[in-house]
Amino acid sequence: MSKTLITAALPYANGPVHIGHMAGVYLPSDIYARFLRNKGQEVLFVSGTDEHGVPITIKAGKENKTPQEVVNENYETIAKSFWGLGISFDVFSRTTNETHFKTAQDFFTDLYQQDLFIEQETEQYYDEENKKFLADRYIIGTCPKCENSDAYGDQCENCGTTLSPLELKNPKSALSGNKPIKKKTTNWYLPLDKIQSEFLEEWINKQTHWKNQVLGQCKSWLKDELRPRAMTRDLNWGIPVPVKNAAGKVLYVWFEAPIGYISATKEKRPHDWESWWKGKDTNLVHFIGKDNIVFHCIIFPAMLHAHSEDYVLPQNVPANEFLNLEGNKISTSKNWAVWLHEYLEEFPEKQDELRYVLASIMPENKDSEFTWADYQARVNGELVAIFGNFVNRTMVLTHKYYDGVIPALPAKKLEQEITAAKEEICRLHKKMCDSLSAYKFRDALAAFMDSARVGNKFLADIEPWKLIKTDEEATQAAMAFAMDITQYLALACEPFLPFTHQKLSTQLNFIPLEHMITRFWNGECLFGNLNGGHKVGPSTLLYTKVEDVDIEKQKEKLAGIKTGFKMKEEIQFEDFGKMQIVVASITAANKVEKADKLLQITLDVAGTSRTVLSGIAMHHKPEDIIGKQVCYLANLAPRKMRGITSEGMILMAEDAEGNLVFVSPEKTINSGAEIA
Ligand code: 2FM
Ligand code: ZN
Repeated sequence: MSKTLITAALPYANGPVHIGHMAGVYLPSDIYARFLRNKGQEVLFVSGTDEHGVPITIKAGKENKTPQEVVNENYETIAKSFWGLGISFDVFSRTTNETHFKTAQDFFTDLYQQDLFIEQETEQYYDEENKKFLADRYIIGTCPKCENSDAYGDQCENCGTTLSPLELKNPKSALSGNKPIKKKTTNWYLPLDKIQSEFLEEWINKQTHWKNQVLGQCKSWLKDELRPRAMTRDLNWGIPVPVKNAAGKVLYVWFEAPIGYISATKEKRPHDWESWWKGKDTNLVHFIGKDNIVFHCIIFPAMLHAHSEDYVLPQNVPANEFLNLEGNKISTSKNWAVWLHEYLEEFPEKQDELRYVLASIMPENKDSEFTWADYQARVNGELVAIFGNFVNRTMVLTHKYYDGVIPALPAKKLEQEITAAKEEICRLHKKMCDSLSAYKFRDALAAFMDSARVGNKFLADIEPWKLIKTDEEATQAAMAFAMDITQYLALACEPFLPFTHQKLSTQLNFIPLEHMITRFWNGECLFGNLNGGHKVGPSTLLYTKVEDVDIEKQKEKLAGIKTGFKMKEEIQFEDFGKMQIVVASITAANKVEKADKLLQITLDVAGTSRTVLSGIAMHHKPEDIIGKQVCYLANLAPRKMRGITSEGMILMAEDAEGNLVFVSPEKTINSGAEIA
């Protein structure tokens, strides 16, 4: 029997994961994995964190941590977020694991021993003080296009131009600030040009079943003609290049990260991993975002093809586009995101609500947009008002009329209505299964919700709460059928809403048999699995409304990110009371020698004189501030800078342009007056 190996892109461990990751990669792959498992197929769903690469070393440098510390922390947060949202990985590994080091090195060695790589010497920038070759991001200089003086070696963020470090004017090392020198270094290049003509061109042309935008990107890369690409880097964070005389070199992160899928498989299935990667009957499917297309559709297949053993190639790469947030691109560095770990804390027990909304707006064919207002509208208007409402009415009425025991379906009652509703649900069932097979998750979810709509409409049309007064048998028929639909929905929601599936199955006292699940997901529209006489459990609401206050809080949080405002941890009055903040008058001010930013300021505080060093020299001239009254934190422990002891601190605020401004009393008052 064929089996499916599902991979979900390895997220960088340089930060936590957000709704964009979830909607683009992890939710579609999870829905697909659940769907195939339900069909009875053998599935292995692998992922893990991508823990090498320059962004991680930069982050570590900024936070004064080692790269290993950074990735350890992020691995925990990322893994917890995914488990918390029900992503059903069979394994979630890491590229710093031993198995991965060996797997990646062996892979490289295989290609190396075939003499596939081109060994090439080039000149690269080198920081003499730190004795390091500089990765592109570590070189800062002036953009040749727009004269922005803070452009990076790979890109100018001001004008968006892609650059190479050698193009920058006045290059400086981000490590030492010094001018880097050019130094020769040898690296190993994968001859993508050769692989294009021998294999890739023909292979890509056969993938006519791939999404248009994926195929389009691949063809455009091929049209521009691929060039050899370095598979090694001069860097000290990564997997050492397993070749003699390659000290200080590591495997290019995009060479080793996709091999992470193989390593993860090995970890989970040490004895039969080869059957997944080298067996003829494996369907390999890569779930990724659009920025990963070239690596998964061109470079990794080229590597797999080039390996001396026969590796399987991806059967499909259903890449998604991007999800935006409230009108702007999601950005990890700008903190413009809804972080999954924060969502889980702030919306406890609402995992399926997020899954539902993100699956409804999944950026399958074009970029899409998440807004909190839309989140609230979809949860309240669809999950609560349609699916939840239908199930709740059915459960409540069954308890009320029949003590929770499902009535037998009497013959010849409401036949027409029941048949019509059944036919409609079965049509939707087909649509749901077909859409899932075709990676159309939005359509599949819409078909599911439409089947709940059919149930809702059935109850609204029949009105069992009125019918019970006139026709007992017809009411029984209505309620037995409503229960049939509920059971149908309990099965159908599983791939999308696994938490609801559990909750509803418990309420229905319904443990579906394996063969039933298999038949259902292979296209049989199964009704009537809960017979008359079956007693359901107590009912609770599947979903509750998302309140306006919750949405307002989230919007405020985002507004705070835009303006840079973020609430700190709550403190007690005693904490505040420890600070002695007073009004003080500036009596003298001077520049500090050899310190561009510092002013030495003398303050009068209730007749006593205090000396403070303040980093405001770029914003205020000494002569302009004499006589000013300011807010002064008097009891801050003294600190020595440039041989001068600074006693306390003058409080300043930063304006939108980054200028530091004084906070002064509205009218002149006694110096020494306490601020509280
Ligand atoms: O774009 C990213 O987040 C990459 N870390 C994805 C890597 S996918 C695979 F190749 F490992
Ligand atoms: Zn520029």
